[in-house]
Amino acid sequence: MIKMTKAVFFSLAFAVCCGNTFAQTASTPIPQLIEKDGWHALLVDGKPFLMLGGQAHNSSGWPGMMPRVWQSIKLMHANTLEVPIYWEQIESQHGKFDFSIVDTLLTQARLHKVRLVLLWFATWKNGSNHYMPEWMKLEPAKYPNIIGKNGQPIDSPSPHSQATLDADINAFSAVMRYLKKADLQHTVIMMQVENESGSWGSVRDYSAAAQKLFDEPVPAELLKPEVLKALNVPAGSEGTWSKVFGDRADEYFQAWSIARFIGQVAAAGKKEYPLPMYVNTALRDPLTNPPATKYESGGPTDNVIPIWKAAAPAIDLVAPDIYLSGSERILKVIELYNRPDNALFVPEAGLSPDKSRYLYDVLAHGGIGFSPFGIDDNGRGATETELKEELAPFSQDYEVLSPMMPELARWSFERKIKAVVEHDDHAAQTIELGAWQAVVTFGTRQDGEKLQNKEPLGKMMIVQLGENQFILIGSLCHITFHPTGKNTGKAWQYLRVEEGCYRNGTFKALRILNGDETDWGGPAFGVKPTVVKTSLTTR
Ligand code: DGJ
Repeated sequence: MIKMTKAVFFSLAFAVCCGNTFAQTASTPIPQLIEKDGWHALLVDGKPFLMLGGQAHNSSGWPGMMPRVWQSIKLMHANTLEVPIYWEQIESQHGKFDFSIVDTLLTQARLHKVRLVLLWFATWKNGSNHYMPEWMKLEPAKYPNIIGKNGQPIDSPSPHSQATLDADINAFSAVMRYLKKADLQHTVIMMQVENESGSWGSVRDYSAAAQKLFDEPVPAELLKPEVLKALNVPAGSEGTWSKVFGDRADEYFQAWSIARFIGQVAAAGKKEYPLPMYVNTALRDPLTNPPATKYESGGPTDNVIPIWKAAAPAIDLVAPDIYLSGSERILKVIELYNRPDNALFVPEAGLSPDKSRYLYDVLAHGGIGFSPFGIDDNGRGATETELKEELAPFSQDYEVLSPMMPELARWSFERKIKAVVEHDDHAAQTIELGAWQAVVTFGTRQDGEKLQNKEPLGKMMIVQLGENQFILIGSLCHITFHPTGKNTGKAWQYLRVEEGCYRNGTFKALRILNGDETDWGGPAFGVKPTVVKTSLTTR
C-alpha cells in the first residue's frame, strides 16, 4: 500500500483528467492501493477504480463454463469478474505448471472489457484443503491436517507444515511470475490468496508439533503495545499464549499461525509481481463476541484483524464475505473492516435482494469494491429471463453506476459520498451536509398515499458537489432537505432538480423534475435506482 505524497497526488490528478476508462494497454502502471489520511483507493491504469463485481461459482472457472459466466457479467453490467484458479488444476503434476486457464481468462476478459480478480484456491478453501493437488492429498503425513483437542482428525490443513508452505509458495510464485509476463495490460487487478482460511471443527491444531509452539512465548510482533491494546490485553504482558491471551489463546494462536503461512505465500508472490493482495473472511457475529467454536477459527474475523496485520504485512487488506443477515449486523461489519490500515472491500455477498443496498454504504466508507457471489448459471440450465431476474437487484444498480464509475471512485476517495441504507425497522434517517440536512424516508407512493417498503431495500447515496449542489442516487425512498446553521428555519426550495445519467464524465439531463415530482415530500425514487442532480436555495 502506497501513502499519498504530493507527487503521487498530482500524477493521479493528471491520470483522472486525461486517461480513459478501460485503457488496458501495455504502458499502464501496475494496479496499486493507495492511502490518504486513512482513506483508500485502488488505482487501475493510474486512476481510482471501483470494482462493481460479480463472483463466479466455485467450479465455474473452466473454459466450458465461462460463456455462462460472461453472460451473467454482461447482464449485470459488472466491470470486474472474481474467478477462482485452482491449484489442483494448475499443478496437477508436482512441479509441472499448466497456465492455459489463466490464458483463457485473460483473453476472454479483455474481449469483454472486464477486469479480473483471481482467487487462489490452494491450501485453504473454506477451512479445508480440498484444492490441494492429488499428489499432496495422497501424502497426508507430508502435508498434514490439524488434529482436534481429543486427537480427532479435522478436515483442515496444518499451518505448521513447512512442506505445505513450500509447495504453496512454489506454486503461487509460479502463477505470479506467469502473470507478470502474460498480463502486461493489467487485466488482473487483485489477487485473493487462499479462500476463507481458518478451521471448522477445532479452534486450533492440537498436534504435538503445534502444542510445542503453543507452549512457547508469544512472538514479539504481537507484544507491541499497539497490538496488545487493540486486542484488549494489558501493555507489558508476555509469556506463553495461555498466559497472555487467556481464554482466547487457542483462537489467537490459530490466527497467527494461518496468517504467518498466508503472509509468506503472498510475500513470495509479490516478489515475482506485486499486485494488491487480500484475504477473505468467513465472518462471525460482530455484535455478540461469540466463542471461536461457533465460527471458522483463525481466519481474519473482526476480533483478530490486529493479529493478521502483524503476522501478514504482505496482505494489503482483509475483506468480509457478507452472508450475515440483519441491517445492524451488516452495517457493523462494514464499520469494523473499514480501518485506516485496511481498505474496505466486499469480495462476496449473498446474491439476494437484501444485500445489494450495502454497496452504497461501502462507497460512503471509501470502499474499493463490492461483489455478490455465485452469479453464473452453474450448469443449472437457467434461462436468460431467470438469470436476469436473479441478478436484477445488483444489475439495476450497476447499470446506473457503471457509466459513472470513474467519478464515483474519485468522489469516494475524496470523501464526498454519504449514504443511508434502510434499516430493518424502516425508520427515516438524516444525512448532515454542511449547510443542509437531508431527510430520507423509505417507501413508495401510490395515488398520494405513502407505502412502507415490504422488505427494507431502500437506499440513498448523496454526492456533495458544492455547498448547495448534490447528486442523489437511490431507490425505494424519498428525500427532502432542511437548511441548517445560519439558515435554520428559513424557507427553501429547489433551484433545479434534473433526472439523468452520467456519460463520459458529464451529467446528461433526461428531464427537469418539478411539480408533483418534487412537491409532495419528493423527489421520490422507485424500484429502479435513478440519478438526480439538484441544487437548493433559501429564500
Ligand atoms: C463462501 C466461500 O468463500 C465461497 O467460495 C462459496 O463457498 C460460498 N461461501 C458459498 O455460499
